[in-house]
Amino acid sequence: MRNALNKLSDSLPVDDPRRARFDNELDSFFSLFRRYLVDKSSGSTLDWDKIKSPNPDEVVPFSVIEKQPENISNLKNLAVLKLNGGLGTSMGCVGPKSVIEVRDGNSFLDLSVRQIEYLNRQYDSDVPLLLMNSFNTDKDTAHLIKKYSGNRIRISSFNQSRFPRVFKDSMLPVPDSFDSALDSWYPPGHGDLFESLYASGELDSLLAQGREILFVSNGDNLGATVDLKILNHMIETGAEYIMELTDKTRADVKGGTLINYDGQVRLLEVAQVPKEHVDEFKNIRKFKNFNTNNLWINLKAIKKLVESSSLQMEIIPNQKTISRDGQEINVLQLETACGAAIRHFNGAHGVVVPRTRFLPVKTCSDLLMVKSDLFYLEHGALKLDPTRFGPNPLIKLGSHFKKVSGFSNRISHIPKLLELDHLTITGNVFLGKNVTLKGTVIIVCSDGQKIDIPNGSVLENVVITGNLQI
Ligand code: UTP
Repeated sequence: MRNALNKLSDSLPVDDPRRARFDNELDSFFSLFRRYLVDKSSGSTLDWDKIKSPNPDEVVPFSVIEKQPENISNLKNLAVLKLNGGLGTSMGCVGPKSVIEVRDGNSFLDLSVRQIEYLNRQYDSDVPLLLMNSFNTDKDTAHLIKKYSGNRIRISSFNQSRFPRVFKDSMLPVPDSFDSALDSWYPPGHGDLFESLYASGELDSLLAQGREILFVSNGDNLGATVDLKILNHMIETGAEYIMELTDKTRADVKGGTLINYDGQVRLLEVAQVPKEHVDEFKNIRKFKNFNTNNLWINLKAIKKLVESSSLQMEIIPNQKTISRDGQEINVLQLETACGAAIRHFNGAHGVVVPRTRFLPVKTCSDLLMVKSDLFYLEHGALKLDPTRFGPNPLIKLGSHFKKVSGFSNRISHIPKLLELDHLTITGNVFLGKNVTLKGTVIIVCSDGQKIDIPNGSVLENVVITGNLQI
């Protein structure tokens, strides 16, 4: 592997300005790869018996946060970062996920910008917004944020690393030169944040501006707004890392959870759990809450850990296929997640936050919910309608709605969902204008048929199948 990587490095002339970063990326990739092989051969897995529920000071309840003051002067220490390296492929979109239109003509990115603009206007602050892009998302993102250049907001972008994919059979890198096809490379997960923030020079630039704390969140989490109480709690406790957790429901049994392992707070992901314990892991009484990926991290601590090469996050191997000469070939990419870094930071702990701070849009079912009357938009943040009672409805849309294009075509006017508990729609279904859905609504269209829900329909606790209505 090392020889192949040296060859790859030599595909750029030594005096090429891109060479230093490229070599740095290849070195980081090599240590990740080596660690993967060592872990694999030693079969090192967690010892289930050592896993304990976190201590009370390792997961702080919301009641403690609620009592915190909202100290506006803390904002001068803060910078906000949106993880923006991912594509919209899972929702059938080309380009970055953050450019998908979510609400009233605004994309995820527009909403993040509006939130920070409002924060700075409201408190007369100057909190900068950073975007961590990948080679997959940087061009489209640059294009989208151009329109904000005259606004009262400082937006800076940097690119995360670009690592070579590896052939599963030979374990050799897929690319043979710096310019090899795009599908020869991958962005190595959001755990790459620390290295890339450092390598891009953004970390030093933030520290030079007196910024000490970075609030990180997923680009698709519309509930991740700056919270002055959590910020104050972080400063008061001197914690170097805070992970926002929220209570599990039966719908999110897979999310990573905080544990105490050998006296240390750690993130436990389902992929690390031995098969025989997966049900226990999913038990919402034993592991009550999960990681929202809203993280508050001390910038000086990041610098120290990166410079001493101390960050060793669990490796997530991810198998993909690429096409070469008409053949599908298995490749491997090794990723890391920034939540897994928690164990390296002093005073790191979780705080339990209300569900409203976790509003991810992973599927078109989520998209339907955030576009509906269940929420209203306030300065770029989505707020739940106060007349809604109970948890968010459970929405399951079938494969015809998997891509945003299919979804928008079939549901061109968003129905009213305020009184909805459960919705399932599968098959060739089209909703008309001004439709209201209440209680449990199930619409199942069998193959070869079509169901049109007429304009103005009010459907309450109904099952509609084919041309049969019960
Ligand atoms: P994921 O694709 O990891 O979503 O992207 P997920 O599976 O829900 O992940 P977790 O477990 O909640 O974290 C999460 C965020 O990270 C960004 C994506 O753009 C998205 O905002 N991301 C992901 C990166 O910036 N770089 C990557 O390499 C991967």
